[in-house]
Amino acid sequence: MDTEKAISARHSVRYFTDQIVSEQDLRELVTAAQQAPSWVNSQPEHIYIATGATLETVRQAQAKLDNADSNDQLEPSHSDLPVTAREKWSQEAQANMSQWSAGITTTLGQNGPHLMQQAAAKLYNAPAVVYLTLPSGYSSWSLYDLGAFGQTLILAAQNRHIDSMTAYQFVKYPNMLRQNLAIPENEQIISGIALGYADKGAAVNRITAQREALDQVLKISN
Ligand SMILES: Cc1cc2nc3c(=O)[nH]c(=O)nc-3n(C[C@H](O)[C@H](O)[C@H](O)COP(=O)(O)O)c2cc1C
Repeated sequence: MDTEKAISARHSVRYFTDQIVSEQDLRELVTAAQQAPSWVNSQPEHIYIATGATLETVRQAQAKLDNADSNDQLEPSHSDLPVTAREKWSQEAQANMSQWSAGITTTLGQNGPHLMQQAAAKLYNAPAVVYLTLPSGYSSWSLYDLGAFGQTLILAAQNRHIDSMTAYQFVKYPNMLRQNLAIPENEQIISGIALGYADKGAAVNRITAQREALDQVLKISN
């Protein structure tokens, strides 16, 4: 597969089969992602991968937190990276988000959001989840670098026909993750990426996402 094919074949997969991703693949994908550029070659990221019994523990811990009520005094859902309320995004971004959300109901029917939630609650049945962290007090430029790292990782995965899913869903209980994955207190958990093989029969994998017309976003000045 060439790079452009990997770019166009990649899409977010919201339900994976039980097929595992080998440890050798995981190591080689992270090695490939390390080729991403970073500010003064700072390489600020650390990577934690959960598979097997550890991922099962995380899955169960997350389900418990998802189902907790406010009296349980368990960790509330709150990523280390602050979330911006929808109404604070640009009008253009809000329109894109609304269009995407409406498309889910068109594709999956009124039950679409519920099906998505069910899949998310199981961490998409992913056999491996990659967590990307930055040291506390990181430079804003490190967020740029981490995005490049994550994208390089998922394109390298696609090149091997390994599917992926980048999701907020993975990082909404950072303290639980720090405990289960031995992530130090002085690291911020920024992003989570599932790797695995798409369950082609799963309805949630029919979700698509359009892109803005090129001329809406591009200006070339000669
Ligand atoms: C940082 C980030 C967080 C995301 N979190 C979620 C999530 O929690 N749930 C979800 O269904 N999709 C999530 N997505 C996937 C986006 O919805 C998806 O990338 C977008 O709709 C474009 O679709 P595509 O990846 O299939 O091209 C996330 C994507 C990114 C980059």
